[in-house]
Amino acid sequence: MQEKLKAIVNEALEKMKSAEKLDSLNDIKVAYLGKKGELTEILKSMKEVAPEDRPKVGQMVNDARTVLEEKLEEARQGFVQKIKEEQIKRETIDVTLPARKKFMGHRHPNNIALEEVERIFVGMGYEVVEGPEIEYDYYNFEALNIPANHPAKDEQDTFYVNSNLLLRTQTSPVQVRVMEQGNLPIRMIAPGRVFRSDEVDATHSPCFNQIEGLVIDKNITFADLKGTLAEFAKQLFGEETKVKFRPHHFPFTEPSAEVDVTCFKCGGKGCRFCKGSGWIEILGCGMVHPNVLKMSGIDPDEYTGFAFGVGLERITLLKYEIDDMRLLYENDIRFLKQF
Ligand code: DAH
Repeated sequence: MQEKLKAIVNEALEKMKSAEKLDSLNDIKVAYLGKKGELTEILKSMKEVAPEDRPKVGQMVNDARTVLEEKLEEARQGFVQKIKEEQIKRETIDVTLPARKKFMGHRHPNNIALEEVERIFVGMGYEVVEGPEIEYDYYNFEALNIPANHPAKDEQDTFYVNSNLLLRTQTSPVQVRVMEQGNLPIRMIAPGRVFRSDEVDATHSPCFNQIEGLVIDKNITFADLKGTLAEFAKQLFGEETKVKFRPHHFPFTEPSAEVDVTCFKCGGKGCRFCKGSGWIEILGCGMVHPNVLKMSGIDPDEYTGFAFGVGLERITLLKYEIDDMRLLYENDIRFLKQF
């Protein structure tokens, strides 16, 4: 019996030595000490042992059990320790490694220019409002004095969702939406995206940004318009900047004008930027047409106003001396990083 026990213990110890993982130890425990384990089987067969030998044999089995339990515990601790060491090794941080650089994003040049324009007008008491990019034909054309079949609709062709809905071609419809609300007086600017059926080139894009301006109050005159835009140009391009109003035509303003500023680069002498003329065109404007006021429910005999529309990209390109509009839309980080 002693021999048999010794053999069992040795076999178990042998298996423990070659165990490769914690689970294998468990299997060994079950195989030798479990309910159907080899040592347990021996205890069960005690009835075949002579009664006087039973205490001795019982003692031997128990000793063997204790040895196995101790060895198993030892082996388990060994595994736990090894696992812990491996984990620590895996999780160590090498504090001597160079840190990974964090790249901070920043505002797009268009947004930097827009914030500058907003700052100037908010400083003059204007509110910044927004309108929808998908617009009704009524707001984009009709209510701006551009009836069906007006040639201006041809110049501003766009994507039509259906015969009433389109991608707005200008921010001017926001004028109508604000006037319709009837809260007078009005002093607002409305920046946003507009869409036209244009081919992409250095100065055109089918999607670009405008900033609309509108002032409606009693006794607003063309002098207010001139003073406002002259101040705007000075704040944007420098104190020396002069403005020039050239007569023009827009269906929703009368009279209308296009505004040029003295070239910020050469101061008006003529250079590459102003194509030698000394002047750079920056916006369209005029006195709001009485028809437009009437259609929006404002009495043109009581109220007058002026409006203007600025191309944001134009301002951005001028301010940052960028000579191709496509650069603004390519999202090339090497370009954008410069502003
Ligand atoms: N909406 C015009 C355009 O896209 C720009 C414009 C001109 C807006 C004169 C105005 C304005 O408000 O008074 O060409």
